[in-house]
Amino acid sequence: MRPTLVDGGSAIDSRLERNKYRARPEARSWDGAPPARQNAAAPSPEGILQLGWGFRGSKVLLSAVELDLFTELAAVPLDGETLRRRLRLHERGARDFFDALVALGMLRRCSGLYANTPETGFYLDRNKPSYIGGLLRLANATIYPNWRNLTEALRTGKPQSGVGEGENLFDMLYADPAAAVGFAEAMTGASLPSAWALARRFPWEEYKTFIDIGAAEGALPVTIAQAHLHLSGGGFDLPRVRPIFEAYVGRHGLADRLPFHPGDFFKDPLPSADVLVLGQILHDWNLEAKHQLLEKAYAALPEQGALIVYDQMIDDDRRQNTAGLLTSLSMLVATQGGFDYTVAECTDWMREAGFARIRHEHLSGPFSMMVGIK
Ligand SMILES: C[S@@+](CC[C@H](N)C(=O)[O-])C[C@H]1O[C@@H](n2cnc3c(N)ncnc32)[C@H](O)[C@@H]1O
Repeated sequence: MRPTLVDGGSAIDSRLERNKYRARPEARSWDGAPPARQNAAAPSPEGILQLGWGFRGSKVLLSAVELDLFTELAAVPLDGETLRRRLRLHERGARDFFDALVALGMLRRCSGLYANTPETGFYLDRNKPSYIGGLLRLANATIYPNWRNLTEALRTGKPQSGVGEGENLFDMLYADPAAAVGFAEAMTGASLPSAWALARRFPWEEYKTFIDIGAAEGALPVTIAQAHLHLSGGGFDLPRVRPIFEAYVGRHGLADRLPFHPGDFFKDPLPSADVLVLGQILHDWNLEAKHQLLEKAYAALPEQGALIVYDQMIDDDRRQNTAGLLTSLSMLVATQGGFDYTVAECTDWMREAGFARIRHEHLSGPFSMMVGIK
């Protein structure tokens, strides 16, 4: 029942206002407090703002990689004006750009000279075999524009990469030879740290042959073959990838031990070897295709053969591996049906395909692997 007006409308209104807050004790303590005290009791907006503005720092790094800034600084530290001229930048933003990279921890500045950090010098100098900038180039050129339309992808469930109905990402990518090379180089950047870990963590001494299914340039087979001289095998990928794979493997002097196996993993049987690797493959595809690929891997392996699956697998509780969850959204904006998955999901799928002695092991950063034995 509405209270009678005994002391004027404003008093009743303020009582009603107070009653409204009674159900929300956290709000009641703010009741009537001056703005300064309200602000003192407020939680910090820092986390929200840092995340919301995060794209600016990210884009500064991506532009620096696009400009090959870290390669330019690899030989010797440079003053700002020399660096600006070498990169052919306008005077207006250059100083802020370089100093933002210092503040972001991507460059050092000492006595007016800019230099790479140990990390950027190792990973972002194009002339080093440890270069992973290809991945950031792909992020800059393709993934970043796709993410611009994330809301649309969330509303429609459709990719924002230009991949049409009934097409897949690779048909589109490989129509442009330069994009195909860029993508393969990006995959090297994405998989090198996992390949180094996999070379150490898997009992390769128990096997003689291995084939990387969907090998791109071949960074993984090259890394494994360099570390384990008794192994031979190679890479399986679409025929269009052959020249890219052979150029990379040839540069590492491994053409004899790592031949290219051309094929389409949805149309052709997979090649056989003691160990097959599916690295960052399953997450590109929908559930039906994931099952199909695992079944094909099982069929191609000999008895006691091993399948290694690696991806940025999501933790079973789906709250810790942020990179895995965000990569899954990258699959939403880029592909028709791709998604990342939890360790438990992958375990179930591998078991359904017939694998036994299934185990999970961390590789590097957000990447981990599943191993199953036929
Ligand atoms: C996301 S990349 C992963 C590359 C590499 N395994 C790694 O971890 O960096 C996917 C790879 O699968 C290959 N691929 C896509 N569709 C394929 C198909 N139908 N048959 C064989 N390979 C395919 C692509 O060419 C590409 O090299």
